[in-house]
Amino acid sequence: MTETTNTASNAAPDTDLPGEPVTVVGLGLMGKALAAAFLAAGHPTTVWNRTPGKADELVGRGAVFASSVTDALEASPLVVVCLSDAAAVRDTLGPHRAALAGRTLVNLTSGTSEEARELASWTDDYLDGAIMAVPEVIGHPEAFLLFSGAPGAFERHRDSLGRLGNATYFGEDAGLASLYDVALLGVMWGTLNAFLHGAALLGAAKVDASAFAPFANQWIASVTGFISAYAEQIDHGAYPAEDATLETHLATMKYLVRESAAAGIDTEWPARLQALTERAIDAGHSGAGYAGLIDVFRGQA
Ligand SMILES: NC(=O)c1ccc[n+]([C@@H]2O[C@H](COP(=O)([O-])OP(=O)(O)OC[C@H]3O[C@@H](n4cnc5c(N)ncnc54)[C@H](OP(=O)(O)O)[C@@H]3O)[C@@H](O)[C@H]2O)c1
Repeated sequence: MTETTNTASNAAPDTDLPGEPVTVVGLGLMGKALAAAFLAAGHPTTVWNRTPGKADELVGRGAVFASSVTDALEASPLVVVCLSDAAAVRDTLGPHRAALAGRTLVNLTSGTSEEARELASWTDDYLDGAIMAVPEVIGHPEAFLLFSGAPGAFERHRDSLGRLGNATYFGEDAGLASLYDVALLGVMWGTLNAFLHGAALLGAAKVDASAFAPFANQWIASVTGFISAYAEQIDHGAYPAEDATLETHLATMKYLVRESAAAGIDTEWPARLQALTERAIDAGHSGAGYAGLIDVFRGQA
């Protein structure tokens, strides 16, 4: 698949002119932060929410509350929607689809790639987006957002979308941003679960989690280097053991299982690691490096 990446940052506006008008539909925790970032960057901002009271603070800062969904959509060339899920987007915007004509719809609601592609069929000018940030960092450089969908839409609105954080565009397939989103959340959950398991293990030896955390963070920084090296191996389809073989990893994983059992903490997490590695070795990857596990995740071992 050919993939285009294109990044915009939340640099200050080039002129004193106001930004393009923007509508934000959905003022939950995230929607409010999105609307606040547009307002702070000088965009005329129209908002709508099912529960109107959630707009009060934004209206106090200059936002306009639209009295209907249609009015909200018609107010701006750029419409950002951020609701609980795709069903809420369908229910809220579906009856008003005609008002989307001539506007760009940017859906920042989390969902599956299939849901994104379905919503993309509503209009020629649809961008799906994933927010890799919590509300409090929206509008700051540490926030990053991923977009895919209508060619040209990201280019036209990149300055506005860049107000929310660093914005990257992955090309025409509207489902790609959602796929990146869940894959990245998987990285987050895997990392956090490994930390929590380690904190439980050391906690059984009366070591505080806050004493463990700096070492976990230092080690995670090393692991980012492994990821870059293994990505190249995966893309080349060869997994030479440049650091350690899967056999060596397996032997050490068994210590983690044994230590967990001895400490009386949950063994499911390390036992799962062990089982996955044994499957890769059974499939002939015993001398391979860690990236050889990719075949297990691909369902090929
Ligand atoms: N919060 C985060 O840190 C974060 C980070 C990344 C991505 N996201 C994504 O952003 C989206 C919104 O998250 P959030 O944290 O803002 O959630 P939230 O605080 O629970 O807000 C949910 C929003 O959806 C609206 N809504 C729900 N069902 C609706 C329906 N049937 N019709 C109309 N409106 C409906 C709610 O309206 P009412 O106010 O009327 O209930 C509210 O505006 C989610 O998809 C989430 O996964 C959130």
